[in-house]
Amino acid sequence: MRILYNLEELEAAKNEYKQYSIAFIPTMGALHAGHLSLIDKANSVAEKVIVSIFVNPLQFGPNEDFSQYPRDIDRDINLLKSKKVDYLFCPNFTKDELLKIKQLQAEPKLADILCGKFRKGHFDGVVTIVNYFFELIEPDYAIFGEKDYQQLKIIETMVNNLSLNVKILAAEILREESGLAMSSRNVYLSQSSRIKADEIYKNLCSMSAEISKILAGDIELNKKIQRIIDSYKEKFINSGFEIDYIEYHWSRILIAARVDGVRLIDNIGV
Ligand code: PAF
Repeated sequence: MRILYNLEELEAAKNEYKQYSIAFIPTMGALHAGHLSLIDKANSVAEKVIVSIFVNPLQFGPNEDFSQYPRDIDRDINLLKSKKVDYLFCPNFTKDELLKIKQLQAEPKLADILCGKFRKGHFDGVVTIVNYFFELIEPDYAIFGEKDYQQLKIIETMVNNLSLNVKILAAEILREESGLAMSSRNVYLSQSSRIKADEIYKNLCSMSAEISKILAGDIELNKKIQRIIDSYKEKFINSGFEIDYIEYHWSRILIAARVDGVRLIDNIGV
């Protein structure tokens, strides 16, 4: 695996790899088995795989966890070396430098709901960096996890709207044995918070089962779905969660919940 620390090194590598098909996996590091599964998918579709690790300051709000976001580049490099990754791009752009690149606005219809309501500007920061990396790397494929389902939909829309020449592939959510969706932020959870966090997926499963039953009968659909969601919202709140949202979109239930201050997101199809 070649490590590319800056634009010059990336340009030099591009001269080597441009004859191959390229799959790109953008990450913010703190890698876990979920990320590593994206690498397997990347290798199954393209000849060369590029992973990026960059904690993007543009997508963090002023009161968010940018400075505390877990960073351990040596550990990440070792994990990546255990897989077939051809290049790791890990630039150290500053926020000031990034404010000079083309700033994009995420499609408001998709970006103002769910996480966007709680993280103003977050998705603008995501599409800006993802588009910039697409311009720099010129991949044929880019792979995004379904855990960040709203992000996936927003990036698909950006690629369509700008007619970019990259195919977006979605990868299924990977879960811990307990069902908790794998996330870099899980390292923030204490043992007791983790046990509590496990309720997210358990309740998503039962909500999904209840909603599927109603969908089969198709009676007063939205009202019934909303009633189920409201009852689970109450259940979460009673057991000490702070709920940013539980909503139903794209035939999925999506949730953002704070467990002892740690904000986790998850979703499930119905
Ligand atoms: O999903 C993430 O880790 C980030 O939002 C991404 C896509 C790497 C952009 O910084």
